Amino acid sequence: MTSPHDTSGERPDLDAAEPRGHDGAHSRFRPPGEKVAEIPPHLYGRWKHDPLLRFSNAFFSIVLPTFNHLMRPRHLAEPDRTRTLRIVEREIVAHDKDVVALRLVADDERPLLPWTPGAHLDLLLPSGRMREYSLCGDPADQESYRIAVRRIPHGGGGSVEVHETLHIGSTVTIKGPRNGMPLAVPGYGSPARRIRFVAGGIGITPILSMMIAAERIGLDWSMIYTGRSEDTIPFISEVERFGDKVEVRTDDVHGIPSAQDLIGDTPDPTAIYACGPLPMLETLRVGLIGRIDVELHYERFSAPPVVDGRPISVTLASTGETVEVAADETVLSAVLARRPGAPYSCRQGFCGTCRVQVLDGEIDHRDHTLTPYEREHGQMLTCVSRAKGDHLTLDL
Ligand code: FES
Repeated sequence: MTSPHDTSGERPDLDAAEPRGHDGAHSRFRPPGEKVAEIPPHLYGRWKHDPLLRFSNAFFSIVLPTFNHLMRPRHLAEPDRTRTLRIVEREIVAHDKDVVALRLVADDERPLLPWTPGAHLDLLLPSGRMREYSLCGDPADQESYRIAVRRIPHGGGGSVEVHETLHIGSTVTIKGPRNGMPLAVPGYGSPARRIRFVAGGIGITPILSMMIAAERIGLDWSMIYTGRSEDTIPFISEVERFGDKVEVRTDDVHGIPSAQDLIGDTPDPTAIYACGPLPMLETLRVGLIGRIDVELHYERFSAPPVVDGRPISVTLASTGETVEVAADETVLSAVLARRPGAPYSCRQGFCGTCRVQVLDGEIDHRDHTLTPYEREHGQMLTCVSRAKGDHLTLDL
């Protein structure tokens, strides 16, 4: 006898389990021992097609694929979240006068989108450059956004443009806010019991809004703020109002901080949120090797180093010029040397601004931003991705 739980692979005799004595089922009644001629079409033994089943079959086999097909091209386009904001406040926030904080409000009647600590805006500058800046105001402020920008005289030109062209009354197009380093409240999405903030120089910008939020909701937190000298670190007075939760430490007085200085005392499971220059983040990362009681969240404001790079070449299709990309150089950097106006922003593979269409060659994707569909269709983020072979042709 076949058990209902028999998993031998033999089909049980379905009719043996059929209830008897009901009129509708009697047409299928057969004397014991009669050979089963065919297997019922489904478990309920109905001979007619079930209209609901037919409808759902049609839905899943025709309607859904058609809908997906129609929607596919939209995956390529970013949702249009651009809008125009007006600058209503401009304040110098570092003693060396190289950091300016801008407060922006809506230039129309629509409310600003809410944001969470760690979020940033993409600014489309008058020159066409796109740059990302962390929101550094109070996340509870629904009327304005605040950003801060350090002037980098020999950088890509974005910070200088902000300093020189965005004045009170100017308007600027923005996208966002978006959040690449959200703050997880201990006990809610994080096993940590306390938070340690680590900021270096202008890296204070995403950390400042986190400190405001952590203080407001009564979290157990501390912070170390580092920089070359007190003159160069922005928002010093705003940071110092948090009292002894904050340690300000400058290289000219205290020397370069060690990993232990940055990590601090961590008697309980701790979440560290860090933003600053690469050497500071690297010191922190190495110092935390083997520390399973500490989770590290970080944001750098410079491009990450190229890992496992090989020299490649890229051809710019519009002119046919070929650009050599060194093993330790990004495709974006090499392209910028020939095309200074090529768009970029984060240089870290998450904003999508440097996206290009690849016309020839196999891409070594190193971002976590493009969708499988975008990758299949030859899109590439030049700030991090490279070539699997020796050469790519870019639609530039
Ligand atoms: S510049 Fe942001 S993804 Fe490349």
